[in-house]
Amino acid sequence: MRHLIDPTDLSMQELDEVINLALDIIDNREKYSEACKGKKLATLFYEPSTRTRLSFTAAMLELGGTVLGFSDAKSSSVAKGETCADTTKVISCFADIIAMRHFEEGAALVAAQNATVPIINAGDGSHSHPTQTLTDLLTIKREIGRFDNLTIGFCGDLRFGRTVHSLIKAMSRYEGVKVVLIAPDQLRLPGYMKHEVCEKNNVPYIEVSSMEEVMGDLDVLYMTRVQKERFLDEDEFDRLKDSFILDSSKLKNARPEMRILHPLPRVNEITVDVDADPRAAYFRQVENGKFVRMALIMKLLEWAKDDSKTIDLIPEDAIRNEYVCHNKRCISNMENVDSLFRPATDKPGKFRCVYCESKAKL
Ligand code: CP
Repeated sequence: MRHLIDPTDLSMQELDEVINLALDIIDNREKYSEACKGKKLATLFYEPSTRTRLSFTAAMLELGGTVLGFSDAKSSSVAKGETCADTTKVISCFADIIAMRHFEEGAALVAAQNATVPIINAGDGSHSHPTQTLTDLLTIKREIGRFDNLTIGFCGDLRFGRTVHSLIKAMSRYEGVKVVLIAPDQLRLPGYMKHEVCEKNNVPYIEVSSMEEVMGDLDVLYMTRVQKERFLDEDEFDRLKDSFILDSSKLKNARPEMRILHPLPRVNEITVDVDADPRAAYFRQVENGKFVRMALIMKLLEWAKDDSKTIDLIPEDAIRNEYVCHNKRCISNMENVDSLFRPATDKPGKFRCVYCESKAKL
């Protein structure tokens, strides 16, 4: 079975196929209006969502399919203690494909290990959000026209921002990409992203403390919200929530062809006066999310019938049930699943959790 758990689960060729199909859908909407006739998408959302859930819903409806699911886990048997694994086995009996958002990091991987239909990770805690990445890539393609030789500034919550982690992973596969990290000390990009993604793939990165000092260098400014729901300490959130606010005055040195992306929702990190700037692409980005999810649903349903498209989600050298994950939000610490660790590529002798990429607890 084929799933999408991490943005790099798609080969570069498959990624091109998804993006090109999305572009064709944009130009030929009618041609795809029955592409998923008779198919059912289940949307299992254990965390709040507006764009992801409703764009998946709109995508399947526009493809002629139907949608079932829940938008609040409290209204499902999860409230009675049903595990992610059992829920997935059950929903596999009702749907042809499942999009799951979960607050536990690694939940989508556990779902994929238990499903008999394709699983799409629609966001797992602060870990990963691969369909937002597809949305971002389609937006970059339509707005800028290329993926190579881009300088991308990531601003805001780079520690908990799953969309940032996924997009950096995806962009690290292109030539000449440079990353500029703009965040307060407490919200810096996690170490595994710097070492195992940027350094391993020869992606230069710099860390700066203001967006003004780099604005003129950027092709893309990727703004993010400081995520209240990820903080264990509310006082720390209050101290950090207003760290970086983009307003029109800060854009005066930005290039005319630069684009501002944001996965949304925004709170106050982009003032509304920026919305009218032609460089502000974040509402166009939302619509791209529907088109790219249409393409992804079609491709995963096609690949589900082809055994040669199956990929291993658990590394061959994974170690089972020997270590405990450092991350309290990891599914391995919240549900009864095997602990799984792989050797860290940046630190010999160290291990990282297969579900969430955190370190092993000593
Ligand atoms: N970008 C994004 O994931 O938005 P939602 O949380 O509204 O789905």
